[in-house]
Amino acid sequence: MIYTAPTPAFADQARAVVQNLRDAVSRLRGEPGTLSNVLADIEAESRQRLWTVEAELLWEQAADLPDPQLDSGQALHLHRIVREGISNAIRHAAAKRLRVRIRPDGGQLLLDLSDDGFGPPDAIQGGRGVQGMHSRAAELQSRIDRTPGTFGGTKIMLRFPLAATGAVSP
Ligand SMILES: Nc1ncnc2c1ncn2[C@@H]1O[C@H](COP(=O)(O)OP(=O)(O)OP(=O)(O)O)[C@@H](O)[C@H]1O
Ligand SMILES: [Mg+2]
Repeated sequence: MIYTAPTPAFADQARAVVQNLRDAVSRLRGEPGTLSNVLADIEAESRQRLWTVEAELLWEQAADLPDPQLDSGQALHLHRIVREGISNAIRHAAAKRLRVRIRPDGGQLLLDLSDDGFGPPDAIQGGRGVQGMHSRAAELQSRIDRTPGTFGGTKIMLRFPLAATGAVSP
């Protein structure tokens, strides 16, 4: 599918599926690591994917981000949420620019993804992707909100309590 894909976006979706299968088959629950290490992995994958579809990635990571240890489950959830957000931005919005911001806000970490694509249809026919993002966010004791994007498309925002990572006292 990847090598005979009719478009770069199609090849990207096939790659994302393969990566999800790899995670499942190897029973990898994600590699535990510090937040900055996990984000570096996510950034590398995101950069590769957007490059493949000739879209721009703006990665804005605050310099004063705390760097707590994430367990393997938390690392995987974070990774899969961003992976699905990027899949949707490429597949449904034909985004040409995607901004990922990560910054601290009080006791929380804010991670948002803004695309410049078509925006969601009025009535979203839920696939499994958005549903999965919400349940992964719940596992992180977090929530995901969706708003119009800064660049005209869609923005999704994850609020992640740092207390859940042990970075600050609950
Ligand atoms: N960034 C986005 N821009 C525009 N529409 C979006 C975006 N993200 C999601 N949508 C809309 O929301 C719907 C549901 O998304 P969801 O990820 O749950 O399902 P899907 O991508 O269609 O299928 P899958 O189960 O493979 O993820 C999409 O079909 C699409 O119409
Ligand atoms: Mg999807």
